[in-house]
Amino acid sequence: MLNAERDFVGQRSDLTFKYNKSLGRHGWLRLTPAYSVKLVKEIIAGSHTSVDILDPFSGTATTTLTAAEHGNAAVSFDINPFLIWLGNVKCRSYKAIQMQEVRKGCAAAIARTEALLQLDNWRPPLFNIERWWSSTTLEVLAAFRVALVEQFGEPAEDRADGLAWVAFCRLVIETSSAAFNHVSMSFSSETAHYEVEHVTHLYSAILESVLSSCNSPLSGVGEVVEVDARAIPDMGRRFGLVVTSPPYPNRISYIRELRPYMYWMKFLEEAREAGEMDWKAIGGTWGIATSRLATWESKGHLLPDILTDTVSRIAATDTKNAGILATYVLKYFYDMHLHLSSLPNVLAPGAELHYIVGNSTFFGHMVDTPTILGASMRMLGYDKIESTVIRKRNSNKALFEYDVTARWGS
Ligand SMILES: C[S@@+](CC[C@H](N)C(=O)[O-])C[C@H]1O[C@@H](n2cnc3c(N)ncnc32)[C@H](O)[C@@H]1O
Repeated sequence: MLNAERDFVGQRSDLTFKYNKSLGRHGWLRLTPAYSVKLVKEIIAGSHTSVDILDPFSGTATTTLTAAEHGNAAVSFDINPFLIWLGNVKCRSYKAIQMQEVRKGCAAAIARTEALLQLDNWRPPLFNIERWWSSTTLEVLAAFRVALVEQFGEPAEDRADGLAWVAFCRLVIETSSAAFNHVSMSFSSETAHYEVEHVTHLYSAILESVLSSCNSPLSGVGEVVEVDARAIPDMGRRFGLVVTSPPYPNRISYIRELRPYMYWMKFLEEAREAGEMDWKAIGGTWGIATSRLATWESKGHLLPDILTDTVSRIAATDTKNAGILATYVLKYFYDMHLHLSSLPNVLAPGAELHYIVGNSTFFGHMVDTPTILGASMRMLGYDKIESTVIRKRNSNKALFEYDVTARWGS
């Protein structure tokens, strides 16, 4: 990457999740590492009109929903059950009658909530839950959840009532003390006491905004399926364009940020499961996922020299955690190498790839993600590999986001 090119890019918030907040379904729930609809649209616009699109790291399904809105067929993969559920609720087309049923069920749940207060209702086993919600708010949320379950049953995939649960997730976060002014979630010092009336009014407003974003049907089709991107099977289907943003090697845990939703929706029932899920996630680092690194070893894949050099420099740092973090970086790129080696199972000849990735630093050593990924791609037979810097990540002068592009076959 030319330094001169990097000198001219700014932070470009239009290329981050911030751009999506007011864009209907895209703005339903926020995930900090989500990328911008604008970026995905520009990439799709530069490709053949009827191309099938794949995103092997779905997250909030930005790619798949953008593609379906544009009229394409798209599929994305993820391993996080909550994100798979959310992505499918986002990418579904809804009939007016289905939305009317949801509205009716929610009105009945609202009317029932008062009677369910003080009943020792189920609460999510979130660690330090009192940091998230005051006891008053928690009691109302727990009663309202029971009322929603009475109407719709527990959240399930591929039913129109997913919209009621999306609105509930948004309610849970809007009534919490979680603040989004850092790289990921943090807490404000006080939790507010919200009574039943306030909570149900807020829910009604959220629900109406969720429903109104489903008025226009999608012209394409999008689906999120559970596939581990490190071992992509032959699906009997091939994609001509891959647009994706995998996790970055920066120790951000998606489970950590998603845990309020995941616990309230019962996609997570105990803390141990979170560590197990993060161990499957590329770059995962929550709980047990970090301690397992101590005994992890790469198995028989030839990896790029630039990766081996980077890992050795980190390991040689005279600091307590240097060894484990060197292994973290090695495992991240090892997993990405596995991903890139199984991806051709679903690629059409001549498929075009766009990987939006970020670099990082460990103890002052640069981890040059676009170059290391490019080297993996070259070893695995991809061609036309290039990387373009698209934005500066934050005030740290060394951190950027790149679009790494490549082509598969001819
Ligand atoms: C940076 S996020 C994607 C954000 C997405 N572009 C968006 O706009 O919301 C990376 C995603 O990769 C998923 N992921 C991590 N490891 C995975 C694996 N082994 N297989 C499939 N998905 C994985 C994570 O759960 C996370 O949702």
